[in-house]
Amino acid sequence: MLNIALPKGRLGEKVYGMFEKAGYPCPEILADTRKLIFENPEKGVRYFWVKPSDVSIYVERGAADIGVAGKDIILEYSPDVYELADLNTGKCRMAVAAPVGFKDDETTTLRVATKFANITRRYYASIGRDIDIIHLNGSIEIAPILGLTDVIVDIVETGTTLRENHLEVISTIAQLSARLIANKAAYKFKQKFIDEMTYGILSVRKEESK
Ligand code: PRP
Repeated sequence: MLNIALPKGRLGEKVYGMFEKAGYPCPEILADTRKLIFENPEKGVRYFWVKPSDVSIYVERGAADIGVAGKDIILEYSPDVYELADLNTGKCRMAVAAPVGFKDDETTTLRVATKFANITRRYYASIGRDIDIIHLNGSIEIAPILGLTDVIVDIVETGTTLRENHLEVISTIAQLSARLIANKAAYKFKQKFIDEMTYGILSVRKEESK
């Protein structure tokens, strides 16, 4: 059995569709249920839904052989896994955003709200700017509106959340998308199966983008 960790939610359902089209179906997974683990013994696959930010933990520790994780999570946690493929979906970017018209006063420490402390620290170190990180778990956009911080570092997809809160992107840190990742030991022992699956999924993606 190949254990596959999928990110729970909209992206996960889309990604499951790729596995299905590549020849690894498990239709029960789409039923309206609270179940989290689904098997198709005939195809040798066991899928399970986990919180998107936890996928890389399951894969790194070997509880899952492979999984699908956002590049944001990979950049933030630097898990010791193989990144097998860019699935070219779930595209968005990691960006610095600030209230419209914000001017950075470089003589002061910049206060930054984010869920992504490591990405933020690395980015500002690379441009030599002093910062004070305030770690939040969600609704990051509120921080500069209420004066908790000057700017935020967060994921921007359509830009709607920023626009509706009178914020704008001031710089892009990284382009993001969903990646297929593998546990290093599992890849060694199940390489043939994993490679075939990866190839199948990438072929499906290629067809879809035509
Ligand atoms: C993410 C992100 C932004 C929003 C960006 O939040 O943190 O808030 O999506 O999307 P947009 O550019 O299309 O508006 P998420 O919905 O994951 O919730 P969160 O507040 O818990 O971060």
